[in-house]
Amino acid sequence: MPESIPAIVLGGSGYVGGELLRLLASHPCIRPAAVVSRSRRHEAVEAVFPNLRGAWPGLRFTAIDDLPDTLGDRCAIFSTAAHGASAQLVDRALGACEERQCVPSVVDVSADFRFRDAEAYEAVYGIEHGAPDRMPMFRSLLPEHATTRKPRHVGHPGCFATGMLLAAMPLMRPGLVDPSLMVSAVTGSTGAGRAPRPTTHHPTRHANMFAYKPLAHRHAPEVEGILRASTGRGVQLHFVPASGPFARGIYMVLHARLLDGVDAGQVRDAYARHYAKAPFVHLVDAPPRLKDVVGSNHACLATAVNRGTLAVAVALDNLVKGAAGGAIQWMNVLHGLPETTGLATPAAAWM
Ligand SMILES: NC(=O)c1ccc[n+]([C@@H]2O[C@H](COP(=O)([O-])OP(=O)(O)OC[C@H]3O[C@@H](n4cnc5c(N)ncnc54)[C@H](OP(=O)(O)O)[C@@H]3O)[C@@H](O)[C@H]2O)c1
Repeated sequence: MPESIPAIVLGGSGYVGGELLRLLASHPCIRPAAVVSRSRRHEAVEAVFPNLRGAWPGLRFTAIDDLPDTLGDRCAIFSTAAHGASAQLVDRALGACEERQCVPSVVDVSADFRFRDAEAYEAVYGIEHGAPDRMPMFRSLLPEHATTRKPRHVGHPGCFATGMLLAAMPLMRPGLVDPSLMVSAVTGSTGAGRAPRPTTHHPTRHANMFAYKPLAHRHAPEVEGILRASTGRGVQLHFVPASGPFARGIYMVLHARLLDGVDAGQVRDAYARHYAKAPFVHLVDAPPRLKDVVGSNHACLATAVNRGTLAVAVALDNLVKGAAGGAIQWMNVLHGLPETTGLATPAAAWM
């Protein structure tokens, strides 16, 4: 590969930050120039992520005020910080790039740049947005669904949203279903991030399963907004997430009513057309399995139709396709690299 693109990683000590650094270790072009951490600054990256021993020798966390003096002509900014904190960090990193005459591309995996304006964000998150003036530069969607020219910066839709969008977009664009979509999804414990809470404690999650925030999860309005912006159609998402007894992965089933006259063949064709050139999305004949995707940037989808009802099952890794891998995929696109650069590793299957 021809060039080396320096990356600034914000909120670097979290689960998604660690996963991003793991994936970048196999990326031929993008290398971390600064891994910013508020809580672990000056500590060695491999002290916080022992699984990265040998991947980035000598790399230490740094403060947002201590970004390198030079970054070259262009750089990649990944934000893996918590929502609410991310926007301000992105704003500071963009300001640093402006001072250094470096052209940045940002992919933020938090929720801070998924909305069209601060009012829409504040209505769902209930907190003030940290950098409202930067919001118009961002678009939120998956690379698989981008049809127009490249966005300048991306607000990654997130992990549950990746599954919902992969399942829903091919139905919504041609208008094959009643736009009232029911989604149930089970997620692994890494979806909740590094800080332990009573509901994420091992004895609570192990060998256990429970729904949470039924029909009240904030990802539903986010995904409705992205679908509306991409299809011009109104949609209602009725979403029930659940906590599953595993660390990584999301298993999701979307149910919809087919419109009169729509049959299983049209549904299959819509998915096949949509994902014909999508290297990470696989339409499979039998219901997909988590172990076929976990640890990889791949997602598998299978459809079933009976008596006018459609069920779409989706399996993906929340930390990879749903966060760090999806962010690298977007960054590849923003930098004109092949989408698959550094992401070709298949799932581990037995872990
Ligand atoms: N986990 C997933 O599967 C997943 C999937 C898709 C999207 N996301 C999103 O990706 C982001 C990271 O998720 P995660 O699971 O890695 O979370 P995490 O383990 O909690 O890490 C988030 C990091 O953000 C930084 N941070 C937290 N609060 C902050 C504050 N008030 N000010 C500044 N920095 C703060 C911290 O890093 P430092 O102390 O090092 O700065 C923290 O380690 C979140 O926005 C999450 O919603 C997560």
